[in-house]
Amino acid sequence: MPTRPTILVFDSGLGGLTVLREIVKALPHAHYVYVADDAFFPYGHHSEDAIIARVVPLIGELIAAHAPDLVVIACNTASTLVMSHLRSAYTAPFVGTVPAIKPACANSRTKRVSVLGTKGTVKREYTQALIRDFAQGCEVTLVGSPDLASLAESALNGVEVSDTAIEAELAPCFVGAGDDASARTDTVVLACTHYPLLMDRLVRLAPWPVDWIDPAPAIARRVVDLLGRTEGEAGDAGAEMIFTSGRPHGLSATLTPFFGGRVPK
Ligand code: DGL
Repeated sequence: MPTRPTILVFDSGLGGLTVLREIVKALPHAHYVYVADDAFFPYGHHSEDAIIARVVPLIGELIAAHAPDLVVIACNTASTLVMSHLRSAYTAPFVGTVPAIKPACANSRTKRVSVLGTKGTVKREYTQALIRDFAQGCEVTLVGSPDLASLAESALNGVEVSDTAIEAELAPCFVGAGDDASARTDTVVLACTHYPLLMDRLVRLAPWPVDWIDPAPAIARRVVDLLGRTEGEAGDAGAEMIFTSGRPHGLSATLTPFFGGRVPK
């Protein structure tokens, strides 16, 4: 691997930034290209065929343009569908993001786990298979949220998002009697990369405390396993932010922390 690998991180919007920031912490000297397919956002509202037809050729164009050493699909709605298509079409190594059902079920003491994702992610056969294989005796509640990704996107763009709107998306995750801690949901899988953008508010608005499972650190570890740790100065490696709509990002102050302090071009 080159001493300064190029890592391309892809999502439908800004959610993949929650994955990017963990990878940047692990590999601060890499060159990053973050691509938000905002022209097609939200993926959760598109059919499976439409997502495959959109993402597979688009990733091919991005590989041709940026020659990444590794591509991270930082989107559950896409990863639960396109990984095998991408791996058979392109030789670049890929890392996907899929619902962290196995660690969540291993972690739950009450054996009640909820998976909060887009409507697309929760109905995927891929997600059903993860439950069949890894529920480990847990009762798994799938919650397909219609709007939480868009609310997270708005909040990061500085638009006011009400507590009531977030609470409505969150409520179905909390199963069981709130006053009986031994028989209620104790673990919620964040199966959409947008949701950790709202982490503080999710914690505050939850009817009772739960463990929130965000797979981003595990994804970063997987990237390090594949690329290896290399040394270098973070300051020398640039970072780019691309919106498929072509809009200028104009969000630098908000984006900089996700890029480890760098201002993306
Ligand atoms: N960030 C995406 C995910 O992880 C989805 C948001 C969307 O485009 O619906 O599923």
